[in-house]
Amino acid sequence: MKVAVIGGTGLIGTRIVAALTADGHEVVSASRATGVNSYTGEGLAEALAGVEILIDVSNSGYLDERGANDFFYGSTLNLLTYGAAAGVRHHVALSVVGTDRLARTEGGYFAAKAAQERLIRGSGRPYSIVHSTQFFEFIASIADAATSQHIARLSHALIQPIAAQDVAAAIESVAFGTPVNGVVEFAGPDQFRLGKLVREDFRIRDDPRELVADPLARYFGTDLDERELLPGPDATITPTRLSEWIAQEAAELR
Ligand SMILES: NC(=O)c1ccc[n+]([C@@H]2O[C@H](COP(=O)([O-])OP(=O)(O)OC[C@H]3O[C@@H](n4cnc5c(N)ncnc54)[C@H](OP(=O)(O)O)[C@@H]3O)[C@@H](O)[C@H]2O)c1
Repeated sequence: MKVAVIGGTGLIGTRIVAALTADGHEVVSASRATGVNSYTGEGLAEALAGVEILIDVSNSGYLDERGANDFFYGSTLNLLTYGAAAGVRHHVALSVVGTDRLARTEGGYFAAKAAQERLIRGSGRPYSIVHSTQFFEFIASIADAATSQHIARLSHALIQPIAAQDVAAAIESVAFGTPVNGVVEFAGPDQFRLGKLVREDFRIRDDPRELVADPLARYFGTDLDERELLPGPDATITPTRLSEWIAQEAAELR
């Protein structure tokens, strides 16, 4: 079966492309690096020719709200339009647990993701939206966004992070199933306080930054309620624990 992975060169995309290729599927890895621009439409018709499943794991930056809105709106519209013309029978997109409520209260990047989801829902195309919690690989970016003048300030909000490899496996399983025409949630096995998680990240990287617990600290510019990043009760819990992922990372570095 022919599958296109939009953002196939990214963190999640490379893992999906590798898994699909290993499973014997014909895979188009589409990104600007491979000559496909989902935002301008360049190379899209060629990339989607004969494709039955379109997996969108592309991304914009997290800090530029206007840029994120432009990107997710324009790109998603193109993917749905070109996808319909190519006969795509399942549109699968990766988004973030809590997008709706965070978009309502805070806007920013989440407003852009909510717009992406609304376009897909309203398209009339068969689709599945995969909601994931934050990736283990993203913890360093959380720390960086929380840092000013060498001090990281983190709130007590809870987070239930997930391994990128498990996200890729989840997306593959959803993509080959019947379109759910709705949202399915995936999360890692354990909950942490944001501060504790970042402290652990600093410890394994010998990062000398000071860490301060600050109940009013914002998360990428967003005020978080304690449970706002957590999945709902129906989420599928993926297997890899943070400690296992850290051990794997350390082994790869050796
Ligand atoms: N970070 C988290 O913890 C988290 C949690 C849940 C969900 N998500 C979602 O996961 C998705 C993927 O995140 P990621 O971390 O894997 O992203 P990433 O590593 O930043 O990769 C983004 C991909 O998008 C491609 N891309 C960017 N602009 C493009 C364009 N105009 N046309 C075609 N491709 C383009 C990039 O390749 P080129 O630069 O070559 O174009 C790259 O392959 C995002 O939608 C995000 O909302 C993230």
